[in-house]
Amino acid sequence: MKYKSQKIAYYFFAVAMLLFALQLVYGFIMAFYRIGFEFGHPYLTFNTARAVHTNLLIVWLLTGFMGASYYIIPEESEREIYSEKLAYIQLIAWVLVGVTAITGYHFNWWEGRKFLEIPRPLDYLVVIDILLFLFNIGMTIWKANKHSTTQLVLFFGLLSAALLYLPGMVWFDNQTLDSFYRWWVVHLWVEGVWELIMGSILAYLLIKLTGVDREVIEKWLYVIVGLTFLSGILGTGHHYYFIGTPEYWLLIGGIFSALEPLAFLGMALWAIAMYRKSGRIHPNKISLYWTIGCAIMSFVGAGFLGFAHTLPQVNKWTHGTLITAMHGHMAFWGAYGMLVLAVITYAMPMITGRKLWNDMIGYLAFWFTNIGMVGMTGAFAVAGISQVYLERKLGLDFLIVQKEIAVHFIGLILAASLFSLGAILFFYHFIKYGIPTEEAMSDTELQEA
Ligand code: HEM
Ligand code: HEM
Ligand SMILES: [Fe+2]
Repeated sequence: MKYKSQKIAYYFFAVAMLLFALQLVYGFIMAFYRIGFEFGHPYLTFNTARAVHTNLLIVWLLTGFMGASYYIIPEESEREIYSEKLAYIQLIAWVLVGVTAITGYHFNWWEGRKFLEIPRPLDYLVVIDILLFLFNIGMTIWKANKHSTTQLVLFFGLLSAALLYLPGMVWFDNQTLDSFYRWWVVHLWVEGVWELIMGSILAYLLIKLTGVDREVIEKWLYVIVGLTFLSGILGTGHHYYFIGTPEYWLLIGGIFSALEPLAFLGMALWAIAMYRKSGRIHPNKISLYWTIGCAIMSFVGAGFLGFAHTLPQVNKWTHGTLITAMHGHMAFWGAYGMLVLAVITYAMPMITGRKLWNDMIGYLAFWFTNIGMVGMTGAFAVAGISQVYLERKLGLDFLIVQKEIAVHFIGLILAASLFSLGAILFFYHFIKYGIPTEEAMSDTELQEA
């Protein structure tokens, strides 16, 4: 911690960890429902649990991105955050809106638009809160003593994510139009502007952890940004195959989305190459694990498993099945879950002054979550392939098929238990670090690291 306002990040990280833990609870609820233990019915239906699970995911990731920004921007700008007070107000308001939304879901106050379930009145509060956040970060950069590519790409990513939230708020009576613009949020976030946030945070971590020259790392950041836009924007077409849009989307969506893995492959090679080039090894090795792990797992989950169902010839069979859930889990985990955990692992010793960076708990958290996630992805894959075959090739009834594949959810629960054990170790570590301290600022070993 070189600037005292960087400690704001801690409170965002703590909220993110809490929401992450809660997300897992809803994942288990769904998995148990799937194998016949429907203990919560009719108070909590499967579809409500699903909306809560995915919304908690988005909210903890966004909270993590905000924390990462409050940590990274002061350092990259060589000054304190514009207003510390505003940051705390913004966090409290964010939590209040989030809690209201999630509570409301339990009373069926949500819209049936996957991932955008937040009722429109609450959307306005989300927008106000994000404006406060962007204002605070923007003013810090405006008054900065230094500007860097990393800092500007991060800000541009955050700003465009905010702007892209707006098309999801327009009301359409036509379902095709509603779907069309829903993807501007859902797709252009994870396969567009969030990748800028990812690229810039990886750049920051690589600069800190490998000691390779900033010029070299940031030069490649431009290449990543270029590849992302080249493929990701028109790649949106892979969601326009069968929703009532013109036929040319089959060709455009197929070609451009097939190029999307290049950006993720680029990030993986970039992270590995920078690691191999590194002259010095930063003492925080476990943060390097998360950083490089993120770059690699995102290529497998988003790039490879995304490609697996992106061509129209494949997608016409797999669309909306558990194949989507297979890809969704590893992509979100690899690209954005691991990214947030990488920043947290890097920042915690700096904020608290405690150097728990190489103990066993940290490594076990890394391996258990990742091996668990590979297992979960496998369970969804076998369930998904069976579903496609039975339901779409043989033409069996949807619900009969769901019963046939229930057995694979036992496998999911086993793998998810290993994943959750890893997550619990991560939470334990987080708690063990404790809260921000003043000593962290005067620790010279930390300042130089
Ligand atoms: C980190 C990046 C990514 C994340 C987090 C992600 C996550 C997701 C999620 C959650 C869905 C379900 C969306 C919904 O139904 O509302 C989805 C759908 C899809 N994704 Fe990705 N994805 C990523 C990257 C990619 C890439 C690079 C490709 C292609 C190479 C791809 C191909 C697809 C396709 C074709 C679908 C539609 C599935 C269907 O028809 O049901 N994704 N993705
Ligand atoms: C305890 C661990 C977890 C369990 C048991 C679990 C289980 C589930 C289940 C059963 C579904 C619904 C699939 C269906 O439609 O039947 C689901 C959806 C989803 N989960 Fe999880 N999950 C867990 C952790 C996670 C994590 C860590 C992430 C991301 C980092 C995640 C991201 C998602 C996403 C994106 C969807 C929606 C997929 C789609 O669009 O089809 N889950 N999860
Ligand atoms: Fe997409």
